Amino acid sequence: MYKFDYKPDRVNEKCRKWDLNIIRDKFGDVSENFIPMWIADMDFKIPTEVEEKFMDAIKRGVFGYTYCYDEFYDAVINWQKDMHNVDVKKEEITLTYGTVSTLHYTVQAFCKEGDSIILNTPVYDPFESCAKKQGVNVISNTLDVIDNRYYINFETLETQIKEHKPKLMMFCTPHNPSGRIWSVEEMSKVARICKDNGVALIADEVHAEHIHYGEFNSILKIEDELLENVILLTSPNKGFNLGGLKTSYSIVRNKELRTIFKNKLQQNSITSPNVFGIIGLITSYNECRDWLKGVNEYIKGNYELLEAWVNKYKNLSMMQMESSYLAWVNISELGMTAKELTDRLAVESGVLLEDGSHFVNDGDDYIRVNLGTQRENVIEALNRMDKFMINFNK
Ligand SMILES: Cc1ncc(COP(=O)(O)O)c(C=O)c1O
Repeated sequence: MYKFDYKPDRVNEKCRKWDLNIIRDKFGDVSENFIPMWIADMDFKIPTEVEEKFMDAIKRGVFGYTYCYDEFYDAVINWQKDMHNVDVKKEEITLTYGTVSTLHYTVQAFCKEGDSIILNTPVYDPFESCAKKQGVNVISNTLDVIDNRYYINFETLETQIKEHKPKLMMFCTPHNPSGRIWSVEEMSKVARICKDNGVALIADEVHAEHIHYGEFNSILKIEDELLENVILLTSPNKGFNLGGLKTSYSIVRNKELRTIFKNKLQQNSITSPNVFGIIGLITSYNECRDWLKGVNEYIKGNYELLEAWVNKYKNLSMMQMESSYLAWVNISELGMTAKELTDRLAVESGVLLEDGSHFVNDGDDYIRVNLGTQRENVIEALNRMDKFMINFNK
């Protein structure tokens, strides 16, 4: 048995992914033997090294206010250098309370009501809600699909930016929901269009740690001149499944941009870290690289099972999951919407998948499958989905 086969008690943990009431609210009358493959949360126990550091803190027994001590900055600098081959300076790093809430603060820092932001769609839905919740308009730049892979249409992007004059572009790299890894050249083109038109580029790299095909390129690899216009947001939350600790950070090279951004954080008292969040980040970055390698191999094994399953059905196809643990499956030939499919699968098979229409725009033909779970769950879900497909194709 591989250590990732171990199933932690996620029901008593009270995580959203496994909570029957939350699930029934979202998916309807689901039976109790459901298999949740929806929200981006992995079912693997944290690395032993992180567990031990948490236990040490618990044994100390005091949880007073802490601060961003040097080990936090060193861990980020070393991680970015060793894993992504980029140089980051201490003063460029700022603690934040989760990448999603930081998207909201970024909009608050750089936009006022009635302004616009732009994003490539489909995309992770908080990219849209962070703007809409503050009265900021959202311009959708549709990704082109060529041979089952997403591409940015730079001409349309430039035209839309010139026409709508957004203040920010929210850029998901690697891309959720497809896992697409962007090349340095593609990112430079995006950054150039943004810079020439006075649009700050917000790059969300939280999915950078699960790489399966190809190599991840950090946004920090684009030309220095273009980097002046970039705010990078990331966290170990996807890589090591620490999302509930609500700890993340930003990297901003340009001092002026950084000051505006930091002022907004300070205005909201985003200053000292969560005691466990900072320990989790430091330990996972410094000591858990083998764990990450192992989990990535495991996820890739799950992906290969799904890929073989999809290939059995001529009315299904999928994008190659270059990164993340979220597979993007095209169901447009099935003759039902993604919503109908995910609702029926949930109630008839107990398999809970994410309906692609949640990903702002342009996701209606897709479902997203979370493969960050034990192999046993993947095999059982695929068996149940086989039964569903056989009945469906009759
Ligand atoms: C693109 C993207 N950004 C951010 C997050 C959440 O990050 P955090 O836990 O740091 O808020 C997710 C989670 O699914 C995500 O897919």
